[in-house]
Amino acid sequence: MITKNNIHLLFDFLKKQKKTRNLKISQKNNNFEISKSSYTDDIIINKDVIFNCEIDKSLKEIALIVIPLLMKYKKFFIAQLGQSLDGKIALFNGNSHYINSPKSILYLHALRCICDGLLVGVNTVINDNPLLTTRNMKGSSPMRIIIDPSLKLTNRLNIFKDGNKNIVFTQKDSNKKLNNTTIYKLPKKNFTKSVHQKIINLNFNYILVEGGATTISNFLEKELLDIMQFIIAPIIIGSGIDSIKLKSISSLKNALRPKSHLYKLGDEMIASLEF
Ligand SMILES: NC(=O)c1ccc[n+]([C@@H]2O[C@H](COP(=O)([O-])OP(=O)(O)OC[C@H]3O[C@@H](n4cnc5c(N)ncnc54)[C@H](OP(=O)(O)O)[C@@H]3O)[C@@H](O)[C@H]2O)c1
Repeated sequence: MITKNNIHLLFDFLKKQKKTRNLKISQKNNNFEISKSSYTDDIIINKDVIFNCEIDKSLKEIALIVIPLLMKYKKFFIAQLGQSLDGKIALFNGNSHYINSPKSILYLHALRCICDGLLVGVNTVINDNPLLTTRNMKGSSPMRIIIDPSLKLTNRLNIFKDGNKNIVFTQKDSNKKLNNTTIYKLPKKNFTKSVHQKIINLNFNYILVEGGATTISNFLEKELLDIMQFIIAPIIIGSGIDSIKLKSISSLKNALRPKSHLYKLGDEMIASLEF
């Protein structure tokens, strides 16, 4: 049985496969099957089942979103935002706990579980004082990476107290020391692109850009994301922090229209865009 305590083993197995595009995932009743297939004109001529196991009900929808991503990509920058129907990710006072349902939070932890790096902006760390670890399912926690141009972070924040390692990208010259943290100073010019390139150079493969709006919008604008997922709760907040803020455009021809998939996740919906 695949449960919250062992699904990370399945994720790791898929990540270790050199070729995953030839794998096919299917689900019948409670059983979850992964097979190796060769196709000719869409007809399966050879099917080699490599995995067949019952899956816990709470993980079915999640696995059907995450596993195809691992089959398709060997590396990616994936961004997620949990938002209301009217596109808000937090109230004006910064409170965002919680817009989404426990199932969507579990989904977020599945993304953390498959990623080796988790990138956030400094406002998210200061406003929410989060831990940013994988806790709702078993699996390793990604390295926390924070963009903090003017080094506002302090050792009083939770991420500097749990002993896990962090990376901070800044534009400031400073001898500030943050616990368990490597600080990289990058030039102000082309800063976002430099952050992206440095993360790649540090050999990270799967990066979750978890927020907030400013950080994700910068990555989106500079075309540095492979996947962008909106986890949409069926609520209306009415006012607050918008999920995406891009430069204004004068024609809808210039709107971003990437390939999209829609997934249902309990009472919520995931709009997944691939660039
Ligand atoms: N619902 C969700 O899924 C979700 C997820 C995460 C966060 N949140 C909420 O989002 C709110 C924070 O969002 P936010 O948009 O205000 O802040 P944010 O993205 O967390 O942080 C933005 C700040 O980080 C720095 N920064 C990030 N990327 C940068 C870049 N590419 N270039 C230069 N500087 C960069 C800048 O710091 P400086 O201003 O110091 O230059 C910027 O002002 C929080 O209240 C949190 O609760 C919600």
